[in-house]
Amino acid sequence: MLRGERVHQKIWEQRRQRSPGRSPGAPGLNCLVLGGGGREYAIAWRLANCSSVTTIDVTPGNAGMSLFTRIIGFNPDDVPRIEEHVLASHIDLAIVGPDDLVAKGMGDVLRRSGIAVVGASREASKVEWSKSFAKELMKEAGVPTAGWEAFADAGAARDALERWGAPLVVKADGLALGKGVVVARTIEEAREALGSPAVADGRVLFEELLEGDEASLQALVDGETVVALPPARDHKRVGDGDTGANTGGMGAFSPTTVLPDADAQSVADALIAPIAKALAARGTPYRGVLYAGLMKTSKGWRVLEYNARFGDPEAEVTLPRLEGDFARLMVALGEGKLAEYVAANPLRFSGRAFVDVVLCAENYPGTPKTGMRIDGLDRLPEGVFAFHGATRRDGTGNLVASGGRVMHMVASGENVAQARDRAYAGAERVSFEGRFYRSDIARQEVAVA
Ligand code: AMP
Ligand code: GLY
Repeated sequence: MLRGERVHQKIWEQRRQRSPGRSPGAPGLNCLVLGGGGREYAIAWRLANCSSVTTIDVTPGNAGMSLFTRIIGFNPDDVPRIEEHVLASHIDLAIVGPDDLVAKGMGDVLRRSGIAVVGASREASKVEWSKSFAKELMKEAGVPTAGWEAFADAGAARDALERWGAPLVVKADGLALGKGVVVARTIEEAREALGSPAVADGRVLFEELLEGDEASLQALVDGETVVALPPARDHKRVGDGDTGANTGGMGAFSPTTVLPDADAQSVADALIAPIAKALAARGTPYRGVLYAGLMKTSKGWRVLEYNARFGDPEAEVTLPRLEGDFARLMVALGEGKLAEYVAANPLRFSGRAFVDVVLCAENYPGTPKTGMRIDGLDRLPEGVFAFHGATRRDGTGNLVASGGRVMHMVASGENVAQARDRAYAGAERVSFEGRFYRSDIARQEVAVA
């Protein structure tokens, strides 16, 4: 018998021996979260607020998560060790956070153990890791999106530049952590984008430039069942006034007037459900969080992209708004029982608003400076949480920055304006050398709301 099969057999034997009190969904859930950024902090934090949860294990985690979870010391894609951990720690629920782990098929790996898994399969997550596949699927399913053309490589794209003309959007076909998209106002800018490291290798897409307001809509998807989460907006460009390079996200807020909570389900039915249906029809059903980046144009909603996971920083402002037992909801999704669960426990969104202002390290979204000591977390104003994004302890126990998006200042309020004021009050208190943040997160929202 192969080592992997032995592990699975042991897992199933142990599961059979469990007392009924330890069955999935019952109080006493043992959870595993893969990832170590602000999104995974938000997931773990929301799990920690559920009375059904007993333990939360995280890998690789970060210094902030280590305060309320157990950080397990191996790589999140170390398949044999993850499988052994699922067995040894009686994990009931696993949530795969980041795009690269989803794309590697960690959802498939974990599902082999028979536990509840929130994480799309490698095949279904192709909607994120291949933009040309997503475009084909949208065409097939009748989902409105920007006009486009795919090219085998940057050279072939360069040859089509004059025919396309400017402005246009240049995108790397594969995963690029939000950095593989360039809005080119001139042919010269497009040519430059085609030579950049993020785009130079592999297939390339050109897209028609759309104008309008963006919104992020995450949904729980279990086969053909699609349940919308609270809509949010993020701010992708590095500079105030939406200037400079694209990033993973500099801040976010929820709710938003661009896509009100009350419209979330109908928009998900129109723009996410057809994709879920098309994937199921292909024999690669989706089980996990499917998030659509949307633009509200003068001609209606258009889908910019799909992501096969929670958004980051969208998770930070939407998971705190989910009422009810989040862990049991995730178990239901992970077991393929979402429709039944939601019929009995309809999703409710809190009326409170959340704003996230991201504190970044010098040079982000380029290679960030790391190792700077972080101060001020003991001076946070009331109602402000510091969701760690990229932190670790140095040799002397100091909290230091370990990546680009270091800390998410997440604040709640009765409305976006109040949450925004609090998040910025928090941001001012936390300091590290070279830290910067956008000063206009949610500013427009406050002006129109
Ligand atoms: P994506 O990773 O595809 O969502 O692209 C990142 C960002 O680039 C989006 O949030 C938009 O701000 C912008 N973008 C992408 N595609 C388009 C498009 N076709 N028209 C206008 N802006 C776009
Ligand atoms: N907020 C953008 C993303 O998660 O891709």
